[in-house]
Amino acid sequence: MIHIGVDYYPEHWPRELWPDDIAKMKAAGVTTVRIAEFTWGLLEPREGEFDFEWLDDIVKQLGDAGLEIILGTPTNCAPLWMYRDYPDTLQCEKDGNPTFTGIRGHRCYESPRFRKYAARIIGEMTKRYAHDPHVIAWQIDNEPDANHCNCPECTAKFRSFLQAKYKSLDAMNKAWGTDVWSGEITRWQDITTPKGPLYSPNWLNPGYLLDYERFAAQSTADYVRWQYTLLRQAVPETVPITTNACFCGHTIDFHQTFAPLDIVSYDNYPEVRIPEDEEAVYSTAPELDLMRGVKQKNFWIVEQLSGPKGCWGPMSETTRPGMIEGYGLQDIAHGADMVLQFRWRSAARGAEMYWHGLIDQSNVPGRRFAEFEKLCARVKELDWLEGTAPRAEVAVLYGPEQLEAFGIQTQSPGLDYRPQLRAWHEAFASYGVNVDVIAEDAPLDRYRVVVVPCHFITNAKTVANINAFVKAGGTAIITNRSGVKDAANGCVMQALPGAFSEVCGVTVSEYDPIGERTVKVRMGECELAGSLWADLLTPTTAETVAVYDSEFYKDTPAVTRNAYGSGHAYYVGVCGKRALRRAVAKAALETADVPHTELPRGVQLTTRESDTVKARFLFNENETAQTFTVGGERITLQPFEMRIDRI
Ligand code: GAL
Repeated sequence: MIHIGVDYYPEHWPRELWPDDIAKMKAAGVTTVRIAEFTWGLLEPREGEFDFEWLDDIVKQLGDAGLEIILGTPTNCAPLWMYRDYPDTLQCEKDGNPTFTGIRGHRCYESPRFRKYAARIIGEMTKRYAHDPHVIAWQIDNEPDANHCNCPECTAKFRSFLQAKYKSLDAMNKAWGTDVWSGEITRWQDITTPKGPLYSPNWLNPGYLLDYERFAAQSTADYVRWQYTLLRQAVPETVPITTNACFCGHTIDFHQTFAPLDIVSYDNYPEVRIPEDEEAVYSTAPELDLMRGVKQKNFWIVEQLSGPKGCWGPMSETTRPGMIEGYGLQDIAHGADMVLQFRWRSAARGAEMYWHGLIDQSNVPGRRFAEFEKLCARVKELDWLEGTAPRAEVAVLYGPEQLEAFGIQTQSPGLDYRPQLRAWHEAFASYGVNVDVIAEDAPLDRYRVVVVPCHFITNAKTVANINAFVKAGGTAIITNRSGVKDAANGCVMQALPGAFSEVCGVTVSEYDPIGERTVKVRMGECELAGSLWADLLTPTTAETVAVYDSEFYKDTPAVTRNAYGSGHAYYVGVCGKRALRRAVAKAALETADVPHTELPRGVQLTTRESDTVKARFLFNENETAQTFTVGGERITLQPFEMRIDRI
């Protein structure tokens, strides 16, 4: 079954509205409602005094209506009395002072006292609802981010993390290279979390900063695992436990955080206007494929864009006609088995009143709601997708440490890890092939093409996997800024692409961080272009696929291909513009013999299948109609139209 529904905040509305809301949900075709993730203040208004009457009531009303419930543990927002009476539960800013309360997400994951109170409220919830047949899943907290709290507890935990990792100060000093600028650390207790703001953090030691990010990721993963364990003791095995992920200022390590959980959930907020720039990579398809890749299993969308975004900035434009239906179905096309729209109705109070829901504050259902009704009706017809999932022959590798390391040291103006990963995903997806985005150290044997974008911090397992994959006949694409660093975020003292030089049969003799400047590139007869980065390449065993056609390195290789074992490794020294990336992607698909299709920009063809049934999804992620040919059939899709065929 594909679940369709909404995020609902009954606590924001007079109770008289609840029955009417529920009736409208039922009539629209909603199956699932997520509630309660920010309600601790109401549930425990004073320390140890609990008020579950309202939650009991709404759980009963939703359940009586036959709606499934996802219950959030309310730990994102501890009640203000807790922060007031127990300041050690509160996160500290970079200056070491407690953060100002009144927004949300102020809890310190590592605070023993916070955990004590969190365990108690979770216990109160599970006591009541663990066996409620209508509660079909639990969500831990809300969008946990990587722990950047600077309180004494977190500082101590960071020190213990380093002590456990390095055992001796000597080893740590050596790994970080603290002899630069007299940075030798002589006592563990001198280590703190990175503080500011006199110098920009980029002036701090990159080894130290990367270890801090590793700690931050691990701390959050521990917190989520801790909640999971608590919940699992009370909640039946058959009821899945998840948390909702997103990309944010301090993005979690998705693989580590979700490891103990039963299913991955993601909050998906795509573009509300399609950029006119032909170069723009705007689809959230890469993120959807990444979420599926975390467990290599289907996933859930528990927050999906419904209207204008707003609140902490000016409002965005509203969702264009077709988007609510089309984006919901796009989630499903990429392996989502649940889509919940954020949110049922736009808030009338509080900081988020302009992040719009399906219905406006007027409570008069309008265009967006009507479109949601259509989405519900379409989803209802999709029961035959049961047991299906996308299967891919192309994979793109994702590593959280690459994301962090690029954040620590910008390589060239405009060059960043996630955009490069997204761009390579788009290059392949534009040929109508399914793409998995998987952990950088995941097994590769089921794939025919593997893309390794900007693998900056060398992961020895990735190198070994890629070598074995290519040797066995696979086709790999390794891009610039790969093999640059060791695990301590120091530069490797060998020609780049370092550990990938052997499989790529090429070395980098010099590089040119060109920022936004465009360089010309010639690939066969085609005049193409790149920017952001240009490696000057010396092939050892590789052949040249494309050459620079401008700059002082005109006529020297920009893209190479190396025969290695029974397979091939492409090295892409330049960050291509879209046409160049697509040309390389096409060459790789041809090398690997993967069937592919030409599609207009923004048109996506993906599939889901089981051993018995296969579905083809054709989606037009454009604001204009598109006509094209697939399998001999001439097809026109309206803006954001999704066509689903059983093939
Ligand atoms: C998400 C968050 C929601 C809501 C939404 C829209 O990041 O989980 O609670 O804030 O953004 O702003």
